[in-house]
Amino acid sequence: SVNIIVTDSYEASCGEAANQLLSVIKDNPQACLGLATGGTAQGVYPYLVEAYKQQVVSYTEIRTVNLDEYIGLKPDHPQSYRHYMDTYFFDHIDINPLNTYIPSGSQLLQPEITNFSRILEIWPRDVQLLGIGVNGHIGFNEPGGVLQAGVHIATLDTATIQANARFFASEDEVPKTAITMGVGDILQAGKIVLLATGSQKAVVLKKLLTGEEVTTQVPCTLLKLHRDVTVILDRELAWQV
Ligand code: GLP
Repeated sequence: SVNIIVTDSYEASCGEAANQLLSVIKDNPQACLGLATGGTAQGVYPYLVEAYKQQVVSYTEIRTVNLDEYIGLKPDHPQSYRHYMDTYFFDHIDINPLNTYIPSGSQLLQPEITNFSRILEIWPRDVQLLGIGVNGHIGFNEPGGVLQAGVHIATLDTATIQANARFFASEDEVPKTAITMGVGDILQAGKIVLLATGSQKAVVLKKLLTGEEVTTQVPCTLLKLHRDVTVILDRELAWQV
């Protein structure tokens, strides 16, 4: 029940993921999009911006909710996910900034968990874009004996900190915690589009695409519980899966 799309290249995968989001918007110009950050997702936004510039789409009535944010980074920090989203997407389109929600990593945590949970209730997502961590995390739901269903503060895995160190001056500067949707929240989106590239993702993708198990030790395997998941990967990665 997991649909798989294999493309010629990472670029083509980004175009395909963008098309999936655009077709949701075409069906419902007031749709709510669940958005993702990270190196992989970055290639999707230029296509969504281009669709606006070509007047294929308007985002005036669209709402967006992001998966997660680092704790301790102010919104204007160059590595905050708020800064990422503004830079790669929101600053270039006609969206109402009030209709974009990214959890804050620089406010009191408990009230922000409540806020985020409330937003997820009142803005049900038609589609959720996802990347995947080297350890199989989705959002910042890291492997473990248990996973959280709802919004929570996650402690980042060493593997995640190491993987994300490339965006910071040093590994020490990578935040150790993040606020994230839970896996239950992710599974509540009407449709899920997961984009992956790079051989470091092959092991966990294999567990999602060809493995039998659903296990909290590989969070992406919980996506098997959803009825409409599409995984987009390039041929180079598909070879290894
Ligand atoms: C990050 C984000 C995830 C993202 C993943 C993959 O830490 N929290 O939402 O999907 O890790 O990142 P990348 O695409 O850079 O490998």
